[in-house]
Parts: sequence; structure tokens; C-alpha cells
Amino acid sequence: MNSCQLLYVWLLLPLGLVSAGRGTFTRNSDDEFQLLIAGGIIPDNSKYTRSIVSIRTLKYIQYYGDNHFCTGVIISSRAILTAAHCVTDRHKAIMNPHGILVVFGTLNRLDAYDDDYKRHVNRVELHPKYRRYINYDVAILYLRERMPENMRYAKPIAKRRRLRIVEGMSCITMGWGQVYPHGPYANQLMYLDVTVRNHEFCKDMDNFKAEGNICVEPFAEGQLCPGDMGSPILCQGYLAGIAGGAQKCEGVKSIKFVNYTHVEKWIDKTVRALSGSSNCILSPILYALYIMIVA
Ligand SMILES: *[C@@H]1O[C@H](CO)[C@@H](O)[C@H](O)[C@H]1NC(C)=O
Repeated sequence: MNSCQLLYVWLLLPLGLVSAGRGTFTRNSDDEFQLLIAGGIIPDNSKYTRSIVSIRTLKYIQYYGDNHFCTGVIISSRAILTAAHCVTDRHKAIMNPHGILVVFGTLNRLDAYDDDYKRHVNRVELHPKYRRYINYDVAILYLRERMPENMRYAKPIAKRRRLRIVEGMSCITMGWGQVYPHGPYANQLMYLDVTVRNHEFCKDMDNFKAEGNICVEPFAEGQLCPGDMGSPILCQGYLAGIAGGAQKCEGVKSIKFVNYTHVEKWIDKTVRALSGSSNCILSPILYALYIMIVA
């Protein structure tokens, strides 16, 4: 609940106008994450998958899901985190938010879905220090409407303040990107185990900057491909970063992710500001009403 809604509660409580529980989105308190091994398809019942969304253009061409272009993560019932380069062009011009669709609660990219499983985007916010393919490659998509509450298969991702990511840690990433270089996008959500390495390990990558990025080694020949950008990396079950920057999808020995801890303040602040501005439009009117009734 943001501070603006809190204000409503205080104002309206004496009038008996507030219904309990409104506006909450059940938190993911589930930390019994089990590490999956290597790479492959995510099983149906996995807790990993419910915070992942498919980011698409408004209309599909021939099949549901053929308009998927990036992956994203549910931060709150109205905010999606993804890579900034997914929603900007090379001149940093932002895509029209009204041309972006977010589909959640589904494991298969090509499945048909109804209106409860999709949301339109109202606003796109880029990190102010974003440099294409280099660092701060994060953006927030703010949805026109909240996601439905009580949806089992769509929940905000588990976060831990200042999560410590240390060398050698086993983590997992997932997405619907190309299954091999220049190949088709995956239908089922795929996962890949990765191991955190020091920054030195990534120094041969194009444009690798240590600041703000996490460097990992993929299991076996694993790689991130077009369609996987914006995918989360989870360590110990918590959001550690998202796939950003330029990544090769062939002959890969290292992968980089934007370090979530490095950008979490900006994310929190941005989400708060966005939810504040949309919920407070009526407040002067409500306040006047309150004064009239109470006085
Ligand atoms: C991620 O960012 C935080 C905050 O800037 C930093 O303390 C931490 O060392 C970074 N983690 C990695 C793996 O670089």
C-alpha cells in the first residue's frame, strides 16, 4: 500500500468507507526454492515462473505469442521490470507505451489467453543513467490496470534488500528466447543454471563495465539469445538482476546481468512515484468531501 492510499484510509476510516484488504497483492513468501540442474524446460508447478512476463507488441501476426520480443519481471501488481534496450531504439527514443502488451501467468508463449492474463502499458520509465548495451539497462513498464489479485500464477518476484551475491554462487535464469542462434523462440519457458564469477571473468565481453553488472558463467553451452533480454537471474530464490546489455547468442563463455541491488533504489523510487501519481488524482476532491462531511 503506498502512502497515498494510506492517506485515504486515515481520511475515510471514520466514515466507514474503506473496505479492508483492497489494493494488496499477496507477497511471495515462499523461499523453498530448489535449484534445478543445468538447462531445460521449467516444470509446470515451478515457483520460479510466476513472476515472469512475456513482453509483446499489441497484436500477434499469425499465432498468439508470435509478437513476443522480451521478457520481464513482476515488481508489483502494476510495475514490470525489463531491459531498457527492449523498449528504446538506438537513439534512446522510447517506444510508444500504448503499443506494448504484457502477458503473464502462462508458461507457454504460444498459448491462447484471455483478458485476465494480459495488461496494456501506460508508461515507460528508463533509468536516467542508461547507456545502450553498456550499463543501467533497466526500464519500468507501468500497467494501465493492476493485475488481478489472487492469481496463483502471477506474483511479484521475491526480493531481498541488499542481497549479497558472491563468487561461486549458483543461480538460475530463464526466458522464451531463441532456442539456438537465429532459431525460433522457445514455446515453453526455458531455464539455465549459471555460476557467479568475478568481473575479470567477463572482461572479454564487448562493452563490459564492472560497475552495476553481475558476471556469470553459464552451465555447459548455455547462452542468452534474442527474446531473453529482461529475464531475471535468481540467486537463493531472490531477484539478483536482469539480462541486459549486448549479449552474444553464440560461442558464449560469460553472460552479464544488471545488478538489481545497484538499481533497486531507483526502482523503488520510480514505482512509488508512478503509483502515487495515478492514485492521488482524486485526493483534493475527496479531501474537500471529507471536510464537508466532518465539519
Ligand atoms: C551489486 O551492487 C551492489 C550495490 O552497488 C554492490 O554492493 C555489489 O557488490 C554488487 N554485486 C556485484 C556482484 O557486483
